[in-house]
Amino acid sequence: MKIAILRETAPGERRVSASPETVRKFIALGANVAVESGAGLTASIVDSDYAAAGATLGDRSTTLSGAGIVLCIQGPAPTDLTDAAPGALLVGGLNPFGERARVDGYAAAGIEALAMEFMPRITRAQSMDILSSQSNLSGYKAVLDAAAEYGRAFPMMMTAAGTVSAARVFVMGVGVAGLQAIATARRLGAQVSATDVRAATKEQIESLGAKPIFVEAVKGIEGEGTGGYATEMNEEYQKAQAELVSSHIAKQDIVITTALIPGRPAPRLISDAQIASMKPGSVIVDLAVEQGGNVEGARAGEIVEVHGVKIVGHRNVPSRLAADTSALFARNLYNFLSTYWDKEAGAPDLPDDDEIVKGIRLTQGGAIVHERLLA
Ligand code: NAI
Repeated sequence: MKIAILRETAPGERRVSASPETVRKFIALGANVAVESGAGLTASIVDSDYAAAGATLGDRSTTLSGAGIVLCIQGPAPTDLTDAAPGALLVGGLNPFGERARVDGYAAAGIEALAMEFMPRITRAQSMDILSSQSNLSGYKAVLDAAAEYGRAFPMMMTAAGTVSAARVFVMGVGVAGLQAIATARRLGAQVSATDVRAATKEQIESLGAKPIFVEAVKGIEGEGTGGYATEMNEEYQKAQAELVSSHIAKQDIVITTALIPGRPAPRLISDAQIASMKPGSVIVDLAVEQGGNVEGARAGEIVEVHGVKIVGHRNVPSRLAADTSALFARNLYNFLSTYWDKEAGAPDLPDDDEIVKGIRLTQGGAIVHERLLA
């Protein structure tokens, strides 16, 4: 079985889908690994590191030629995969809703596409979950991006010239990214508060030493929703949340928003009027900016200043820490493939009735097979 690692071609994408460590592990399973020359450079991995791990290096077409598995961070164009073996598996972050035409193209080309972002949120799949591994580092980076734009310090400092007060940081949306943002802001010495619609996060916020700010008058989401995700809240809740945020946000220096609802635009959490109530020099980082944004006026790929408040809207935040996010993404891919590896056949065996396989398989035998894409 030949596994191909492609150089990513999406603008601004710095990550790579294999590390020397995962190359070695795939070879130990009995696979051959081919890496496109220069694939790891933007993630601080040089070709000779891959070669030392046992990979062969070459141009794109040589790398793809005869490959039965193609790994990627973002899905390549279907026309780009014509050199791969018939029926090859394409495994990576394929953005099935945003890149629907590509998915149709994979089906037409007979490629079996497996979208790692559809990984079910079950214990068995935790080590294969690219959304978690990448969000974790995004939450961390969001705080550093805020600190870099903020003209003041995060920790309280007592100096001979007087005291510098601690920054107040408010995290909205306490999933994987939000939890890491809370932990990071705390490590930097900020006073941290946080909110979510899921009641289960209250305890998690407290356990990280932050203050929960919750809508009490209207019921939020109790227990874990479908797959652990939030749903859109009703109007009454949204109104109560807006009032709560309005009274809290004016006192904050930094706000990090991470709220997402799978398959829907990101919920709007901060209005222009609320931004106007903040002190000049405050910073908002909108991690949901590419999904429509939690913050009014946020623009993807830009840092804009509104009412003296900077709104940071970096695209592809995981790519801003490409060395670490690549290493974790690569392990997610390895953990998935090795779980299903049939040593005798020297290839993965992906049973149709397996919850994980069913969850991520988009195309098979020339057709779209995923229920969320057929609906
Ligand atoms: P996400 O990225 O989909 O959303 C981020 C956060 O925004 C969530 O906590 C969500 O409740 C919150 N949110 C949505 N609408 C909001 C609103 N209007 N106001 C405030 N907050 C709002 O979430 P993520 O990080 O993917 O985590 C979702 C859940 O999945 C968590 O419970 C997490 O622990 C769980 N999970 C389970 C895994 C497993 O068992 N394999 C792996 C990863 C996460």
